[in-house]
Amino acid sequence: MSRTLQNFDADWKFHLGDIPIKLAIKGGMTGGVTDTQVIEESEWLKIADFDERERSVINEDEWTRVDIPHDWCVEGSYIYDGDKEKQYRNHGYLPVGVGCYRKVFNIHMEDFGKKIGIEFEGVMRNSTVWVNGHLMGTHQSGYIGFFYDLTDLLRYGDEGENVIFVKVDASEYEGWWYEGCGIYRHVWLVKTNRLHVKRYGTYITTPTVQEEEAHVSIRTNVCNENPFSMDFTLSTSIVDCNGKIVGCTNDNKTINGDTTIEIESGVIISNPELWSPERPYLYVAVSDVIAEKKIIDSYKTTIGIRTIEFTPDKGFYLNRKPYIIKGTCNHQDFAAVGIALPDQITEYKIRLLKEMGSNAYRAVHHPPSPELLHLCDSMGMLVIDENRKLDVSPDGIKNLKSMLFRDRNHPSIIMWSLENEELLEGTKVGTRMLDTLSRITHKIDPTRPTVACMNHAWNEGGYGSSVDIMGYNYGQRNDQYIKDHEKYPDRIMIGSESSSCTTTRGEYTNNALFGYCSSYGDHIPEWACSHEKSWQDLVSYPFISGIFVWTGFDYRGEPVPNKYPCIGSHFGIMDSCGFPKDAYYYYKSIWTDEPTVHIFPHWNWPGKEGQQIDVWGYSNCETVELFLNDECLGIKVVDRTSHLDWKVIYAPGNLIAVGKNNGVEVIRKVVVTTGYPEKMKLYVEKIASKSEENVIVIIKVSIVDHNETIVPTADNEVVFNVKGNGKVIGVGNGNPSSHEPDKGIRRRAFNGHCMAIIQIGDGKGDVSLEVTSKSLASTSLVIN
Ligand code: GAL
Repeated sequence: MSRTLQNFDADWKFHLGDIPIKLAIKGGMTGGVTDTQVIEESEWLKIADFDERERSVINEDEWTRVDIPHDWCVEGSYIYDGDKEKQYRNHGYLPVGVGCYRKVFNIHMEDFGKKIGIEFEGVMRNSTVWVNGHLMGTHQSGYIGFFYDLTDLLRYGDEGENVIFVKVDASEYEGWWYEGCGIYRHVWLVKTNRLHVKRYGTYITTPTVQEEEAHVSIRTNVCNENPFSMDFTLSTSIVDCNGKIVGCTNDNKTINGDTTIEIESGVIISNPELWSPERPYLYVAVSDVIAEKKIIDSYKTTIGIRTIEFTPDKGFYLNRKPYIIKGTCNHQDFAAVGIALPDQITEYKIRLLKEMGSNAYRAVHHPPSPELLHLCDSMGMLVIDENRKLDVSPDGIKNLKSMLFRDRNHPSIIMWSLENEELLEGTKVGTRMLDTLSRITHKIDPTRPTVACMNHAWNEGGYGSSVDIMGYNYGQRNDQYIKDHEKYPDRIMIGSESSSCTTTRGEYTNNALFGYCSSYGDHIPEWACSHEKSWQDLVSYPFISGIFVWTGFDYRGEPVPNKYPCIGSHFGIMDSCGFPKDAYYYYKSIWTDEPTVHIFPHWNWPGKEGQQIDVWGYSNCETVELFLNDECLGIKVVDRTSHLDWKVIYAPGNLIAVGKNNGVEVIRKVVVTTGYPEKMKLYVEKIASKSEENVIVIIKVSIVDHNETIVPTADNEVVFNVKGNGKVIGVGNGNPSSHEPDKGIRRRAFNGHCMAIIQIGDGKGDVSLEVTSKSLASTSLVIN
């Protein structure tokens, strides 16, 4: 028997609100409790511990069946009640609070004798877990996972059913953005032999990488949870992407009972394929534990071979070549689902960022989900993995270590961020704390640099010297980057946060009442700068090894510079659904060589005839020529780092921008004055999970006129009706001021677009979707 990783996401029961905990808090009360006396004494025990036979005592109406990932916060309605803490920067909030989860499950008798444990990848937040009434523990941070060994207290075979009960108390916040509530990342039941590779038990590095060969160093922690010693062989094979073994090492060992040992070995790989965002070549290290001629555990570690180097003057080098980091910062939520992202949506987000030309992702301000990191490895995206906060309490250190042990094999990760914008930056206390975190990090992973993502005190108290790289959040302010580089030429610098330019998709004036920011980006917070300034700095000063634009996507919370009823951020290059804003095309034209020409605003301005309108363009062609109704309005030479600008007297019709290289047209963008909304056009994005079992379908709706041209101001309400083996798991439209529920089947379009996310069932049978809207022609499709 080798290890099994059983997905434990399905079929939980959820109760919103607390369940009074009486006797159960003592733990260990439950084994075999069938005495009605005890049941009556503890309402909570009835719920936490009773198997199918006892269900009559639970008010089933108050419990809903849910699957993980789950975020109950996103199901709520916005509140604005003067609670300053919750309304950080004047946004309303979705109610948080307490929720309880319960799952009943069976363990076969044949599993008796194995080690069995449960892995929670992320519970937001402050969770307490009981299994069969036994208190397993509490875990506060919502951003890192935890594991409980259940071996002894499970009931096997006809010993009875098992009940896991999780109380989640999300009343307190960990951050200042939308954090969600609930068991929002995967849950796994892990079954192994008693002699096995420890949790996160491998550490695989490549101390030397040359064209001809790479030295792979492998450290494996093997754990013997038998009371007696055992002889075994640890055999590690490195397998390439075609399944061919390219290196192998075997170690024969004896391990005492109840002991863990670390085994160090190495492999040389000839002519290694290197990992990069452009070619994310992965190997897999398969660590087999062999005893009595049988493989009793098999543990896989994905690895990528690459070198990284940061310099104080010339920026970043990947695989010994200069490499420009084109990054975005991102929170983890998304339209329709809150923080409970199916893996396919995480994949979709990474794909959208890559299509824009981005090659780096800063997970703000906490460790991302393990799936995100696997996707960054396999799709090719550099990552800054971030510790939640400057915290040297036992819990803080434990969380940092969990992140490091969990993540240190990912080739995508290029640095560890230890903090973001802490008030203690530059102070003596802060310096001591950062120094401790940095030393812990270097010990656990000496292969990557540490960074502090600072917004002040860069040159005070030796704070920044505790880390290898100094992060500049908004380093353009007061020319901080430049002044500091002159003064400290040996300092390695990165634009850890940049821009924070606020724009609302499809809006062209600042409208504080509705909570919209103009797409020209002329109303931005005092610490922010335009997208152009942020990139121009990087181009002008090679010592800034990269930038991370705040943010790739809009997120809930931080409606800066607006206030309630605006409830979502405007910082995204894409909106919260991933619909591109105009700024997206700026990045597309600087970050890719794909011929791009984009002009804005839209051309529906009834009543503005004869008035002047600023037309802006982004392009990476040599020149762009603009036409209004066939009349040439001038040819502009493109500076890729800036926008083009025409003053155009408005007349309805066709505005056409023609991008040319060597005087020859390579691409054109046509913006048309449209007719009225008449129908809907559907774009279907079907994303299968790795196993192909779970399919997520994103239905993007555009409201179009009689010519099928998107009506850029349309706000028709759209209803999504699914029949068959699928369901709508949420809707969105990217409007940062919309209070419409994300959990529902209807949504207004916002400036022409909205979307629904559909989860397909078990793959059997077709799913049909009917999309309707009052006064628009309905449309339907079959998803098979
Ligand atoms: C930064 C902060 C981010 C976000 C951003 C908005 O200072 O690190 O979390 O608040 O400002 O511009």
